Amino acid sequence: MAYTSSEEQSLSQPTWVFGYGSLIYKVDFPFLQRELATIIGWQRRFWQGSHDHRGTPESPGRVVTLVPKKKALCKGVAYLIEPTVFKHLDHREKNGYRRFHCPIELHQQKENVSGVVYVASQENPAFLGPASIEELAGHIRKSHGPSGSNREYVLRLAQSLRELGERDPHIEALEALLL
Ligand code: SIN
Repeated sequence: MAYTSSEEQSLSQPTWVFGYGSLIYKVDFPFLQRELATIIGWQRRFWQGSHDHRGTPESPGRVVTLVPKKKALCKGVAYLIEPTVFKHLDHREKNGYRRFHCPIELHQQKENVSGVVYVASQENPAFLGPASIEELAGHIRKSHGPSGSNREYVLRLAQSLRELGERDPHIEALEALLL
């Protein structure tokens, strides 16, 4: 699925941003509304390197990005935010993530809205790409960064997804190996 970048366009209205990783459980920004939400055509994968949160430039950790997959559903949380909040989010997601426009299905309002999502695509220098679940777990177990251990990122994400009623086999398999 081709998304268009939202970076060139200055957003002047409150905008929905879809969170599928740490944006679900680490909400260090103000929002106007928060809703369970789904986007279509993407799946979560621990394929992005983290130099600044769960690892270091010398020893990057692994965090989630979205990888295109036809008809896949990815459940997360959408936040309606003021345009000024993007300064904080762009800084937080600066290690390889870019903002893209995407359609978001809001569960409670039963409505499709146009919003944005941060995706770290394979062209970014911190992208690490696929590995077996065992390799991912081994890598994550030994990684630490300024935001804490890489293991904690996985466990908090797994717990948050459970609370949302989302079953994500990739995340659950990793969690099982890390517990
Ligand atoms: C997100 O949560 O939506 C982006 C990835 C992350 O910050 O973990």
